[in-house]
Amino acid sequence: MAKAASRTEKIPPYLFARIDKKKEEARKRGIDLIDLSIGDPDIPTPQNIIEAMNKAVADPKNHRYPSYEGMLEFRKAVADWYHARFNVDLNPANEVVTLIGSKEGIAHMPWAYVESGDVVLVPSPGYPVYKIATVFAGGTPYMMPLLEENGFLPKFEDIPKDVCKQAKLLFLNYPNNPTGASADDAFYEKALAFAKKYDILLCHDAAYSEIAYEGYKPKSIFEFDTEKKYSIEFHSLSKTYCMTGWRIGFAVGNSDAIANLGKLKTNIDSGAFQAIQYAGIEAMTGDQGSIAVMNKRLEKRRDMIIEGLNAIGINVPKPKATFYIWARVPKGYTSADFCEKLIEATGIVATPGSGFGDAGEGYFRLSITIGEDRIEEAMKRLKKLNL
Ligand SMILES: Cc1ncc(COP(=O)(O)O)c(C=O)c1O
Repeated sequence: MAKAASRTEKIPPYLFARIDKKKEEARKRGIDLIDLSIGDPDIPTPQNIIEAMNKAVADPKNHRYPSYEGMLEFRKAVADWYHARFNVDLNPANEVVTLIGSKEGIAHMPWAYVESGDVVLVPSPGYPVYKIATVFAGGTPYMMPLLEENGFLPKFEDIPKDVCKQAKLLFLNYPNNPTGASADDAFYEKALAFAKKYDILLCHDAAYSEIAYEGYKPKSIFEFDTEKKYSIEFHSLSKTYCMTGWRIGFAVGNSDAIANLGKLKTNIDSGAFQAIQYAGIEAMTGDQGSIAVMNKRLEKRRDMIIEGLNAIGINVPKPKATFYIWARVPKGYTSADFCEKLIEATGIVATPGSGFGDAGEGYFRLSITIGEDRIEEAMKRLKKLNL
């Protein structure tokens, strides 16, 4: 049997593949699991989107290869959505590219930009794909710790100058997975000045921009990088419209960055299924009411979990956005030990913070993407946990 490449061997199993294994073992032992480990909405995709899909899938013109960069109509819908939501103007012809989920675009970005020896600045804890895609492309990830005392924002002034000079890409993600943190205007300005100073392409992952509570409106990087000189922004329909399984997202921004990512993609994939792009158009141009309804439900779940954690002495501030609650593990536990104890003693599946990077050690993440009845049951079980 041929030996896998060293880059394949170097990479640990994807975080959730590892957790799936642990879940399987617990299930076999008859434990009734309440899975709070993955940010995958349980709420169905809104009906208008499903109807648009049904119609599009029946049309033979959509059965053929789609265009690489995505239908112009889809990219126009993205531009209109950006204008309505962020007051940012995009040229659909060269400042938007359709993605097969934002993970696909994020994972390909280092391939388009990174040469062997180049550095990519990656948040820790962070969405695992930034680091792994960098390693795959032969680059060197430099992990920027997101510390609680800094509001889970990286401190650019702590990055050694020689590292800054070798850096090609800077990944940022606010609202943030896994910490639930949000960035303020001053931070975006600082990040942009830093990218400009060292000629780094700022890659902002805005997958959670619409999952926000109590009137909070997360921002686009292009509300700051108004000339689109330094940045690309990744977006997803997965979370906003409960479409994780559909695999549709997009990147917008600097036209060179979009062209380079697009050029790479033409050699790897053949675009997103057109019927799904039509469904995406309906999602972005149709009634947006489902977002507020979903966020109201998520807010209630967030509060239920925060209350449940408070009741056992784990105090966490309420995140203003995202699906996630990021909490410190009780004294005397590592992240992995505590998550194992949670599964064994309560059946609750949490994600160990260490799985998101070294700076995530000492924390665990709970996701609020399961029904209120199960969350209620989880919090009841939590109360009986003997720490
Ligand atoms: C921060 C972040 N970015 C991107 C993604 C990928 O989303 P998708 O590929 O479904 O668009 C996720 C998914 O969990 C995420 O948490």
